[in-house]
Amino acid sequence: MKIITNPTELQRQCLAWRKQGLSIGLVPTMGYLHNGHTSLIDRARPECDRLVISVFVNPAQFGANEDLSSYPRDFESDCAKAEAHGADLVFAPEPGAMYADNHATWVEAPKLGEHLCGASRPVHFRGVCTVVTKLFMLTQAETAVFGEKDWQQLAILRRLVRDLNIPIRLIGHPIVREEDGLALSSRNAYLTGVERAAAPNIRKGLLKLAGKVREGERDAETLKRFLTEEYAAALPMGVVDYIEIVDPDEISPVETIARNALAAVAVQMGKARLIDNILLEV
Ligand code: PAF
Repeated sequence: MKIITNPTELQRQCLAWRKQGLSIGLVPTMGYLHNGHTSLIDRARPECDRLVISVFVNPAQFGANEDLSSYPRDFESDCAKAEAHGADLVFAPEPGAMYADNHATWVEAPKLGEHLCGASRPVHFRGVCTVVTKLFMLTQAETAVFGEKDWQQLAILRRLVRDLNIPIRLIGHPIVREEDGLALSSRNAYLTGVERAAAPNIRKGLLKLAGKVREGERDAETLKRFLTEEYAAALPMGVVDYIEIVDPDEISPVETIARNALAAVAVQMGKARLIDNILLEV
């Protein structure tokens, strides 16, 4: 498996593969790979001839008071896992190689970033869209795989690819969970023992909410109030950032669940900001 840190070198390698008629797959990550990431790699592997994993903690998607400097990193272990799951190349640039001092070009889809994570992380999706567009251009990938835990991110990237006619197919991969239901996240490493023990209640609350929808409840306010009360009881140390019910494509709040909707939450548990979601199918 190759390791490349220079964007131009990555581009040259990928263009050479394309000239040989080889298809390229991409799994963008910020490293500290866990089973959620490796399931994305496993999903991508049969889709392409050459598989690129990017490992880059993208500074542009972190706000001023967020966890950029403390974000967990373990590059050696990332490379070992990427290789064990069949990656051909790990791309791990330094921030300066991706963003020149006078970097001035941004990609964004602001309408889809008005709610959920975009509301409390104003620069986040602009940073994601910009770095992912750069990765698409550098790798010339025909397929890229993203996790559905970051549902809003995936919805925005799907729109970006459509709107900018980028010739790539995006595959969304279901959330991978611990046995007790907690969604896998690199940020779970921040949880204390007490927080970790309570964190599965994020998922449990979402499942109960989906149960209410199955029983016929359609009013979004009633459902959100229900989940707020659940979390107050089951996650006393959690600070809810949002509990929202949105259109799954437009990421805009719905008042009544008339067709499929997405319930999405973000809860700050100590140092860890945890997100999760569930599709409400009606
Ligand atoms: O989902 C992530 O880990 C990041 O947002 C991504 C897509 C790798 C862009 O930095």
